[in-house]
Amino acid sequence: MDKLIEVKNLKKYFVKEKGLINKERTVIKAVNDLSFFIKKGETFGVVGESGCGKSTLARTLMLLLEPDGGEIIFADKNINKFSKNEIKELRKNMAIVFQDPHSSLSPRRTIKKLLEEPFRIHDIDIENKILKQRILELLDIVGLKKEHLYRYPHEFSGGQKQRIGIARAIALNPDFLLLDEPTSALDVSVQAQILNLLQDLQKKLDLTMLFITHDLGVIEYIADRIAVMYMGKIIELGTVDQIFSNPLHPYTEALLSAIPEPDPEQEDIKIKLEGEIPSMINLPEGCSFSSRCPLADEKCLRTEVELEEKESGHYSACIK
Ligand SMILES: Nc1ncnc2c1ncn2[C@@H]1O[C@H](COP(=O)(O)OP(=O)(O)O)[C@@H](O)[C@H]1O
Ligand SMILES: [Mg+2]
Repeated sequence: MDKLIEVKNLKKYFVKEKGLINKERTVIKAVNDLSFFIKKGETFGVVGESGCGKSTLARTLMLLLEPDGGEIIFADKNINKFSKNEIKELRKNMAIVFQDPHSSLSPRRTIKKLLEEPFRIHDIDIENKILKQRILELLDIVGLKKEHLYRYPHEFSGGQKQRIGIARAIALNPDFLLLDEPTSALDVSVQAQILNLLQDLQKKLDLTMLFITHDLGVIEYIADRIAVMYMGKIIELGTVDQIFSNPLHPYTEALLSAIPEPDPEQEDIKIKLEGEIPSMINLPEGCSFSSRCPLADEKCLRTEVELEEKESGHYSACIK
């Protein structure tokens, strides 16, 4: 099996100091010792509630944040210690699409200018005529039209703006596309169009994707394998089938039973997730889900849990 990216014991912590005199230091372990790999050509999904560390993982993988520990291996190279120039080179091959397309598109630039940016930033030596052709081709690939070329971002709908964001991300033909909640700001019908577009692009352009969302419906639709995150940790990992048909971790079960049933009579809620995701400060010693888990006992509070392979390719971090 060919891996495009492998992450070993990746850590990203945020340290905050409070108070002027007795400085109280709090550490948020937003990415707390994550290990996983992504196969070439697959869509790897990361799902979890808001605040569990998904965006921090995305930004650390892209080296937009410096890791506090662990390794990131991309295309057989350890990229942690890459120099500025090497990182710039890497970004041609590793692109990201954010949730809010609006804020990533500068309002005073036409679509043509916005799509020229990746080529300019990377000093791609390309004749103007060929660049324009390439931009028209990009517009076509993402389902926009020639007449959109000289318009400004505010003239587009949310879905169209995200299409522009995707066009920019794929402009330099990357192998790896990271999508951080790319459809979460869009209406449901538009979401489906963007998901279909991404699936088409993946086939056409041979992309490997990491797709992040808090939406289980979206992840079931788009992903091949899924990692479920809870408070900075992966607590379950497996194929879409394994996760949705045979969830092993009580947290995954709780997430799945929170999906609204089409028929309310058929309600089959095993575990209810109550309250907010607890603070990542002062984590319990043992399982971080123990404070919300209906199955938790004394042992769960004391025992450090690790991901364990329970069936082929299906991992869960629960001692029960
Ligand atoms: N730049 C930052 N400084 C301090 N804390 C941060 C920063 N970015 C994220 N966090 C904290 O890290 C945790 C994970 O955040 P984030 O990765 O944005 O989660 P998600 O994307 O899953 O909603 C949260 O507790 C958040 O408050
Ligand atoms: Mg996020």
